[in-house]
Amino acid sequence: MTSPPRTPLVPRPAKVRFKAGHFTLDADTCLRVTGGAEPAADLLRTLLAPATGLPLRPAADGPVVLALDPALTGLGDEGYGLTIGPHSLLLRARTLTGLLRGVQTIRQLLPVPALAASPQHDVPWTLPCADLTDVPRRPWRGAMLDVARHFQPLSYLLRYVDLLALHKINVFHLHLTDDQGWRMPVPAYPKLTEIGGHRSQSLIGPGGDRYDGTPHGGAYTRAELARLVDHAAARGITVLPEIEMPGHARAAVAAYPHLGNRPDRTLDVWTRWGVCDTTLGVHEEVFNFCRTVLEEVMDVFPSPYVHIGGDECPTTEWEQSPAARDRARGAGLAGPAALHAWFLDRVGAFLTRHGRRPVAWAETGTELPGGFTVMAWRDPAHALAAARRGHDVINSHHRATYLDYPRSAGPGEPPGQPGGVVGLRDVHRHDPVPETATPEAAARVLGTQAHLWTEYAATPARIEYLTFPRLCALADGAWSGPSTWDDFSSRMAGHSARLDALQVSRHP
Ligand code: ACM
Repeated sequence: MTSPPRTPLVPRPAKVRFKAGHFTLDADTCLRVTGGAEPAADLLRTLLAPATGLPLRPAADGPVVLALDPALTGLGDEGYGLTIGPHSLLLRARTLTGLLRGVQTIRQLLPVPALAASPQHDVPWTLPCADLTDVPRRPWRGAMLDVARHFQPLSYLLRYVDLLALHKINVFHLHLTDDQGWRMPVPAYPKLTEIGGHRSQSLIGPGGDRYDGTPHGGAYTRAELARLVDHAAARGITVLPEIEMPGHARAAVAAYPHLGNRPDRTLDVWTRWGVCDTTLGVHEEVFNFCRTVLEEVMDVFPSPYVHIGGDECPTTEWEQSPAARDRARGAGLAGPAALHAWFLDRVGAFLTRHGRRPVAWAETGTELPGGFTVMAWRDPAHALAAARRGHDVINSHHRATYLDYPRSAGPGEPPGQPGGVVGLRDVHRHDPVPETATPEAAARVLGTQAHLWTEYAATPARIEYLTFPRLCALADGAWSGPSTWDDFSSRMAGHSARLDALQVSRHP
């Protein structure tokens, strides 16, 4: 007997057994939905409607069952069970989030045209009979998009979230502010977006001194950000907001010079890429500013975590500023350089008092105050050092998770972040748990994340070219743990047809 065909799934489910036969969805198929599971039914209908037009009406005796069962503790916060027979489809989970993950698996089990954006005719909407039990290996599977270097409209963010959800990514990290642009509206500080949201031009390509001569700008409205949060939540994704401080803050200082170290100086929103010397000052007004901004952030974003940057913060301006040197002395610090941790500690404590968990980039893994969740990017050793110190860690080594690096060294590759290539195999090989981690340190690794800095990615087409298929490899490892290259690449060959149906750009 030949074994039943296996539908290639990305990420790979923890346990799956395909069986002979199939189940068919048609215009008469009804859904039986238990209390609390309605949002999962809504998502299934929303996602399948454009291509299939299936109404999937509710009915007490429907053959498709979406059920919440608190007794299914083995499925954890995001797991689900899916049993497909010739006459029924049963999706069960302990949590609504688990059902939302299962909905994405149902999408992948259907014929590829189910993912299309327009009506597909004459396709039998069949799913293979199968038993699946699926739980993620790590609770944090993130993707960061930098909308500060290049702004993208809300409509694009909604699509990006949809693409993340298909891959069971559960954190969408939105990098909202940087030296080159401020995208988050804060009513008490309107110039942040009015002035800080625009730069006069942008540097073209890595290195060199060529500018495009074209102004770039944009900012979200509060209503748009609220819509993004709702759209993501309906797909089981948390939007993690990031407001950069005390470095990468040139746009804020351009808008409000008194927040910097030299109130007499007016700066432009930065037009270069790289690390900028401009930092926030350390006077009390700056902390009032940070609190006001973060209050607005907490109002808009329900995420339990709030990211406050902390990376690449030159201390030159503090060293040159009598006020900052006084501040360091007054706080009993060894010198102005210690203001970095002191600054983050104060702001982190403010977030903690408001019931949120501060997140920051690790520069070494040992410099951040306790209570911070650490995003380690420079070196896997930093992830380990932070975990050993008792921090929760998101391990996203830039050599494996930075999607702004070129995909290959080939001649057709568009200009990317200088410094190396991050190929699909590099992402696939990345294991967020460092090899030498003790069980205690390993337990501190929440997961991993992909990062797309957008200095050289101005358009959705470029963003998608850089994101896919590399994000598929990251999502696969984060959800399922390591796989062999042969296993991943053979599933990816099938999954590519889905990316095509979704019109994900294959070309830069
Ligand atoms: C970073 O890449 N500056 C976090």
